[in-house]
Amino acid sequence: MRVLVFGGSGQVGQALRREVWPADVEVSFVPRSQVDLADLDAIAMCIGKIAPDVVINAAAYTAVDRAENEPGQAYLVNAFAPGAMAAACARVAAFLIHISTDYVFDGASTVPYVEADPVGPLGVYGASKLAGELLIRERLPDHVILRTAWVYGATGNNFLRTMLRLGRERRELRVVVDQHGSPTHAAEIASALRSIAVSPAKRAGTFHLTGGGATTWHGFAEAIFEAAAELGYSSPVVAPIVTADYPTPARRPLHSVLDCRRIDKVYGVHRPSWRASLRPVVRDVLRAEHRASTRE
Ligand SMILES: NC(=O)c1ccc[n+]([C@@H]2O[C@H](COP(=O)([O-])OP(=O)(O)OC[C@H]3O[C@@H](n4cnc5c(N)ncnc54)[C@H](OP(=O)(O)O)[C@@H]3O)[C@@H](O)[C@H]2O)c1
Repeated sequence: MRVLVFGGSGQVGQALRREVWPADVEVSFVPRSQVDLADLDAIAMCIGKIAPDVVINAAAYTAVDRAENEPGQAYLVNAFAPGAMAAACARVAAFLIHISTDYVFDGASTVPYVEADPVGPLGVYGASKLAGELLIRERLPDHVILRTAWVYGATGNNFLRTMLRLGRERRELRVVVDQHGSPTHAAEIASALRSIAVSPAKRAGTFHLTGGGATTWHGFAEAIFEAAAELGYSSPVVAPIVTADYPTPARRPLHSVLDCRRIDKVYGVHRPSWRASLRPVVRDVLRAEHRASTRE
């Protein structure tokens, strides 16, 4: 079985590299230097040439605020590129597993969103990801769209690493307390992607997967510093603020908790609580920083 992965240098992509795959599965990662997703012909040629059984798209334009000023690039990478992947997969009978986002929802609901709930993105990033979902559904029945949220890991650009960095530089941090969601460890997404990829009877459709439970960005920050404090790191004060006090170019949903029961029922993917998953990642980040500082 051949699996082709786009986006192997991102948070989820790096976690996919660390997955242990069955011996009969050959996994190839396509770097941006080989296929830039802005080049739709290159995507088609790559998939056509390799003719994989499964394509995993972990690549995306993920700069939520920058997307407001770069809608062309966001749509190219988040919508037209996955659309081209879907068309190419259809030609070689490959199954496409694509990652999408909680930001396809407007966040007005106060109960967790199920997969079939109406969408209503508030910004360009969410709208471009939604357009990608629609193109995939239109072009390829054999797909899984996995919506996730608030992704973090020990590497890459993410809230957890930003908090730990800012926590060293400042005595007080102001963090938004009225946006609700579920932090998700990139390794748990990668594990689910592998399970789906190697599943002999793949069920197509849209699925939600995040860490278990929910919090706010403020609650997430406090949990990060609690875990760090257990390892002897001195923590800043985390002051709660509301979204209105922290204007950003892109509007974000106030409540984007996802109901993840479907992926558990269909693929047996269980979710640890977001808080439990956080601790080893905080430890890894702090250890890596300690190693780097002692080398300097
Ligand atoms: N991060 C979150 O909080 C979050 C939340 C919800 C959903 N998601 C979704 O989860 C998925 C994985 O996100 P992530 O956090 O792992 O992303 P990430 O760390 O930002 O990585 C993005 C990946 O996409 C690649 N990429 C971007 N533009 C490209 C282009 N033009 N050509 C080729 N490759 C390109 C990047 O390559 P380079 O290294 O070369 O730039 C990188 O490998 C995405 O679909 C994202 O929309 C993320």
